[in-house]
Amino acid sequence: MATYDLVVIGTGPGGYVCAVRAAQLGMKVAVVEKNATLGGTCLNVGCMPSKALLHASEMFEEAAHSFAKMGVSVSTPKLDLPAMMNFKQQGIDGNVKGVEFLMKKNKIDVLKGAGKILGAGKVEVSGDGKTQTVETKNIVIATGSDIARLKGIEIDEKRVVSSTGALSLAKVPEKMLIIGAGVIGLELGSVWRRLGAEIMVVEFLDRILPGMDGEVAKQFQRMLEKQGFAFNLGSKVTGVDTSGKMLKVSVEPAAGGAVETLETDVVLVCIGRVPYTEGLGLKEAGIALDNRGRVQIDSHFATSVKGVYAIGDVVAGPMLAHKAEDEGVACAEIIAGQAGHVNYDVIPGVVYTTPEVSSVGKTEEELKQAGVAYTSGKFPFTANGRSKVNQTTDGFVKILADAKTDRVLGVHIIGREAGEMIHEACVLMEFGGSAEDLARTCHAHPTRSEAVKEAALAVGKRAIHM
Ligand code: FAD
Ligand code: NAI
Repeated sequence: MATYDLVVIGTGPGGYVCAVRAAQLGMKVAVVEKNATLGGTCLNVGCMPSKALLHASEMFEEAAHSFAKMGVSVSTPKLDLPAMMNFKQQGIDGNVKGVEFLMKKNKIDVLKGAGKILGAGKVEVSGDGKTQTVETKNIVIATGSDIARLKGIEIDEKRVVSSTGALSLAKVPEKMLIIGAGVIGLELGSVWRRLGAEIMVVEFLDRILPGMDGEVAKQFQRMLEKQGFAFNLGSKVTGVDTSGKMLKVSVEPAAGGAVETLETDVVLVCIGRVPYTEGLGLKEAGIALDNRGRVQIDSHFATSVKGVYAIGDVVAGPMLAHKAEDEGVACAEIIAGQAGHVNYDVIPGVVYTTPEVSSVGKTEEELKQAGVAYTSGKFPFTANGRSKVNQTTDGFVKILADAKTDRVLGVHIIGREAGEMIHEACVLMEFGGSAEDLARTCHAHPTRSEAVKEAALAVGKRAIHM
């Protein structure tokens, strides 16, 4: 029987990164994966394919609407959807191969099949009609998450789709109705709107992007509406009739009331994700779950069974690839006897639309609710030179700092490249920096990042260009 120091179940960004770090620390490691390819949700049906389509569809829209004003004359671009899907697939394949390479490079055994925990130190792997049991000193559960379903609405991945189906539609729908104005709805809605679909988003709450700073979400909603998104907020979908050529969607106010029927070609259900623990044998192994079905862990990723740990989407916290990766590293270090740690106060969030939305730390709503006295500095891209010359002036940078200490507590950016610009805020906050530190840091000119420095200056009421 093969024996290991560590067996990781799941090869998403949490699992494969944990395996690599453990191998770097000298452990004999195996990963178990039931999917045909490595890389998990992120590489196969999540972050990567969505970003490939966001990039390609943005180029399509730019070619159609922005090139001419810059004096670049091209004939009206035509969509070749199979070629765009092929571009997406090449991106997926390249990244999956990259993970396979990392497994080989770090001498990590890849056990293909579904993993089941038989108890501390024993994992059963079943795949290709074979079952084997491996022994290991430690087990990390990194089995990720699955789509949340809506009662009574069956997902066929053709006309009623989850994010997975929405990443592979065979043609551009004339109309797409999206249930949920969260990250997936707005990103994939952007893809299909750019390619020609009419988008309607039905959202239960009275705002989009719950959890993001309210002011940012409001501005973002206005921008998306200008692009052609229609929002039906404070509403819920109660049924989808699939019997006719068009889907008939029943929508009613969140609090109940008159039902409205909307017709559409495709419905995208994206109301969140749920932890995935099916077939893992957790109950039999005595591994406790919390009240939301997530694997319960302590501050060292340890489950209720000694030697079994859990990380990523299957445990509490934001369901983000970089959070899973950082937990993978910290968990491997803890297993190796080191002091692995994740700073949950500094985990950035990015929505990869146009413009992008990024955020790290506290929102104004959270600070108000916690009774923290704060100051805020805001700087619009309309006053940033580089944005002006590029004619991409939508959005702003907002910095929230402690009123007494000036320590930066939250940074929120809406605008082109916001997803790249947020990281200087992350580094600053990781070091406990102040708005004054940021304001006195020299920023290259002309860059969009100068708006971050100006927002920091604005905290002290001394922005230069405003
Ligand atoms: P996963 O990536 O879900 O991997 C879990 C793996 O475990 C899977 O490969 C699964 O097959 C395997 N597995 C499960 N059970 C077993 C078993 N019993 N035996 C063997 N293998 C098993 N996050 C971001 O940070 N940025 C983004 O831009 C982003 N975009 C996204 C877009 C979409 C459309 C979606 C759906 C998600 C997106 N996410 C994004 C979220 C991100 O994909 C997840 O947070 C991340 O993949 C979680 O990593 P993980 O390792 O915990 O689990
Ligand atoms: P989400 O949690 O971001 O948004 C779900 C939305 O659906 C919320 O606005 C919620 O209020 C709404 N909702 C819930 N039930 C509803 C109902 N019955 N009717 C109408 N609206 C309803 O979840 P989403 O978009 O499905 O994404 C899942 C996860 O994937 C997220 O946790 C996110 O972190 C991750 N992800 C991250 C990305 C990124 O980092 N760029 C991109 C895509 C996904």
